Amino acid sequence: MNYKNLTIYGPFVQAITLEDLPDKGAIAMEAIVPIKNAGILVDEKGKVVECGIYSHLVDSYYASAPKIKSMHPQVVLPGFIDSHTHICFAGSRANDFEMRNSGKSYLDIAASGGGIWSSVQHVRNATEEQLVQNLNENIKNCISQGITCIEVKSGYGLSVVEEVKMLRAIKKAQENCPIKIVPTCLAAHLKPKDFDGSNAEYLTYIVNELLPIIKEENLSDRIDIFIEKSAFSPEEGLNYVLQAKNLGFKITVHADQFTPGGSRVAVEVGALSADHLEASGEEEIQVLATSETVATALPGASLGLGESFTPARKLLDAGACLAIASDWNPGSAPMGQLLTQASILATYEKLNAAEVFSGLCFRAAKALDIKNKGKLSAGFDADFQVYDVEDYREILYHQGSIRPTQVYSKGISLV
Ligand code: NIG
Ligand code: FE
Repeated sequence: MNYKNLTIYGPFVQAITLEDLPDKGAIAMEAIVPIKNAGILVDEKGKVVECGIYSHLVDSYYASAPKIKSMHPQVVLPGFIDSHTHICFAGSRANDFEMRNSGKSYLDIAASGGGIWSSVQHVRNATEEQLVQNLNENIKNCISQGITCIEVKSGYGLSVVEEVKMLRAIKKAQENCPIKIVPTCLAAHLKPKDFDGSNAEYLTYIVNELLPIIKEENLSDRIDIFIEKSAFSPEEGLNYVLQAKNLGFKITVHADQFTPGGSRVAVEVGALSADHLEASGEEEIQVLATSETVATALPGASLGLGESFTPARKLLDAGACLAIASDWNPGSAPMGQLLTQASILATYEKLNAAEVFSGLCFRAAKALDIKNKGKLSAGFDADFQVYDVEDYREILYHQGSIRPTQVYSKGISLV
């Protein structure tokens, strides 16, 4: 090993590595064992070589002249991975929010031409450049929250031309973005009002005319669908995702948000994740728990809509892999504050810090099929965030009112 190109970051009062925590199921509170007086040794490619006791790292490596990046005594943990967002958008839906709080339901608003359809109008009226700019702004905000990898969906274009515009904007944003963006095609968000044909015909149009362009331009390798009464039925969804899977796409599903149905489809096709699950019952919980599909809770949508939370406790106790993501979007989840949302979910669903941080880090990485992020472990990307506290339990306790003072992506300082 070329020691000259190693850097030691530290010392930290505590490092929370999340190493050795299980991929699925409930986790005991005691499973988090902070490394005290810790340091992180990082190679020139931005990979963690070792996370251990700072003085040991210095004794072992400093003689060979690594650089030292000294830190105030603080708590370090892996960067968060937000595995479900719709942050490529334009315009506001404050009007929807007000209508919902005046008694109209999300689905009523959608049926009367508001909701997702109104964001579609805004996105169609925006240029690709404007979408890139909006997305960059939102990602900057996410980085300041300690997020070092983020999924971004299309789904407000809903035609071949407009979905391609969104996905190209997401790809362009990646060019100057210091964190990894995972793009997902959500052309199956809703059948657009201006499509002349049935749901099935719309999905066939997407498969035949959009998916080949996405492959050709390498815009995304992931397909999402909204399976819900007002969107696509489980049968339509199954048929669509099987075709997408045959074309080589990975699958994720907006499932069981208001009515159950989507999660079964997700598990049946071996989807990476089934997201929402607010309406999942005992049967759906069992099906998810005995699968490899990650169950993703989106507390931001519960808070934005005033709906119940995903049964996260039951999912974990049944053995599921639970991820927590923001769902940040202009309609159902406008807050965009992942740590606040996860902390609130923790209080309502009784999740300990080990379960929450796992859901925000390596379990979210699993939902994105990413194997080298989400832990401070040898070989993993040195994506980490530092909080100005002396004990890791302070982080959730403050319910998102404290932010990381430093954020690193592959060892490079972003905040
Ligand atoms: O995850 N449920 C469907 N889609 C999004 C909402 C999109 C919107 O309201 O603009 C969700 O909640
Ligand atoms: Fe969503």
